[in-house]
Amino acid sequence: MGLKRKDILTIAEMEKEEIDLILQTAESFKEVSQRDIKKVPTLRGKTVVNLFFEPSTRTRTSFELAGKRLSADVVNISASSSSTVKGETLLDTARNIEAMQSDIMIVRHASSGVPALLARHLKSSVINAGDGLHEHPSQALLDLFTIKEKKGTVEGLKVVIVGDILHSRVAHSDIRGLLKLGAEVQLVGPPPMIPKGIEEWGVSVRYRMEEAIKGADVIILLRLQLERQGCGYFPTLREYAHLYGLNRSRLSLAEKGVLILHPGPINRGVEVTSDVADGLSSMILEQVTNGVAVRMALLFLLAGGKND
Ligand code: CP
Repeated sequence: MGLKRKDILTIAEMEKEEIDLILQTAESFKEVSQRDIKKVPTLRGKTVVNLFFEPSTRTRTSFELAGKRLSADVVNISASSSSTVKGETLLDTARNIEAMQSDIMIVRHASSGVPALLARHLKSSVINAGDGLHEHPSQALLDLFTIKEKKGTVEGLKVVIVGDILHSRVAHSDIRGLLKLGAEVQLVGPPPMIPKGIEEWGVSVRYRMEEAIKGADVIILLRLQLERQGCGYFPTLREYAHLYGLNRSRLSLAEKGVLILHPGPINRGVEVTSDVADGLSSMILEQVTNGVAVRMALLFLLAGGKND
């Protein structure tokens, strides 16, 4: 079975079967990164371009490693080193890169919709690596992969997402993916950070951390998106940590075997205390490991690969 789409832009547009196919394909690629020689010839001759207009450690590096482990040629372009600083439009920049015969372009941008705009004008496949407040589909896929790998299934689990839902593209993709795979999703955070009407997506909302965490199988913590916020969402970081930070005492309210996820980068002492972030329930580094396998699967499937 292969993927019947040119681009990966949102989880919203994906069918459950497509998500299942990507997660199954990632399972087979995870083993490649555990070998002494972490390389297979699968994408030899293909060209992958990382086009990042916002900072990134995990997403950019893991797409680069994913491409290289599949033997593709990988090129990294960042905003400060591209000719957009000289006034070239984003679309012209992308068209010029494509003129060098790129096959897959991975795009991160501060404005929602930029990857979709490029996808409409390019023959290359486009992967959304995070666009504004909109979506971050590959992060959601690696989160789903991590949950499924550890729990055996996503269906029927109580997953609590904590924090700045309003500004988090990770949350927007995670919610959609979790619901498609049959999880029960509960959101908790300061009232101004919970989008109005979000219950219509099929989630429930709480405002007290202790109440939400009770019985949770998985807790997904979100980074406070300080760069995307105006002021007035909460008084101080200290107050946020006091009301919504995950510490050992709050963790004890969750189900035995609870998993803690965070897309990173983490703010220690704000969203989570260090003992919890580094503890046995924490999947934070496991998510990063799985990110390479999931991104290998995306590149493989978009390049026409089939999982039989
Ligand atoms: N999770 C995530 O997108 O991390 P980076 O910003 O480091 O890529």
